[in-house]
Amino acid sequence: MLDIRIEKTQNPKTLPEKDNPLVFGTIFTDHMFIMNYELGKGWFDPRIVPYQPIVLQPSAMVFHYGQEMFEGLKAYKTEDGRTLLFRPNKNWERVINTNRRICMPEIEEDVFVDAIKALVKIDEAWIPTKPGTSLYIRPFIIATDPFLGVRPSNTYQFIVILCPVGAYYPEGLNPVKIWIEDEYVRAVKGGLGEAKTGANYCASLKAQVKAHDEGYSQVLWLDGVERKYIEEVGAMNIFFKINGTIVTPVLNGSILPGITRKSVIELCELWGLPVEERKISVDELLDAAKSGALEEVFGTGTAAVISPVGHLRFEDTVFQVKDGGIGQISQKLYDTITGIQLGKLEDTLNWTVE
Ligand code: COI
Repeated sequence: MLDIRIEKTQNPKTLPEKDNPLVFGTIFTDHMFIMNYELGKGWFDPRIVPYQPIVLQPSAMVFHYGQEMFEGLKAYKTEDGRTLLFRPNKNWERVINTNRRICMPEIEEDVFVDAIKALVKIDEAWIPTKPGTSLYIRPFIIATDPFLGVRPSNTYQFIVILCPVGAYYPEGLNPVKIWIEDEYVRAVKGGLGEAKTGANYCASLKAQVKAHDEGYSQVLWLDGVERKYIEEVGAMNIFFKINGTIVTPVLNGSILPGITRKSVIELCELWGLPVEERKISVDELLDAAKSGALEEVFGTGTAAVISPVGHLRFEDTVFQVKDGGIGQISQKLYDTITGIQLGKLEDTLNWTVE
């Protein structure tokens, strides 16, 4: 077990009221986890301290060249008072891939998971219990060398913060409207697309603003080379049900390997549904929508869980998915995944960690 120094806050904040909508990413708990890294010394001084500003040199490399990574996972409180994490070992596996890609030091699985467990335990009272809510966990690592040359940093901080959240989209489980982007791209194969690093989200902002201005919640990205194949939504992976088959873009190096994506594929296979991870072009999608073969569209993500898509726009073509409501598979996946996360359904797949 990681030996964590603990300094508890002397000024605990008031917990959010029961009817607080817990707008995603706006409320932070009383404590945070921090650990430092130095080349030659490794990770050291793991500690839980009151949630507070971090002091960095203006020259810290993260501010200039964006060497940073983050993760997202959630903790849930069960009706019988247990606290569950959902597949934290999968987040750790992704940390390793991201860190290798952006030349950051690795973190051992036990250290990553123990840090999260210890912090969630201290701020356990912050786990909301209203349906559709959870405690969002945001681990991240930043490059802290005070240096303006371009190279990997020799020093880092690994920090974990916690945030009680409601639905990621104001729509909740109601279908969202998605804008298929044909001008900007999020990532290219060989770039950073499959790493969980801020650069991908920065690259997405311009199109997101454009889509919001047009009344769309999110952008669906096409591949950066041919601008023909569907990739992901940025905050979510994307799934289609076409003629009874569940189709999702195959992980090709520029798509983030989502943990909810993986869980959805595993569940659909368990239920005996045909699942295809393959290239899917925007033309195929439009044809399926026109012919009525497109039965459901939904996004998957830690923050969003399952988010049905009711309406898509590509260039000047706007199309509604079936009746624009919540599809049967989207609802079943949402109920099953949240049921397991909340300990209401038996966790036969061993996805939760107490
Ligand atoms: C998550 O689902 O945890 C994510 O990291 C998406 C984020 C942009 C909210």
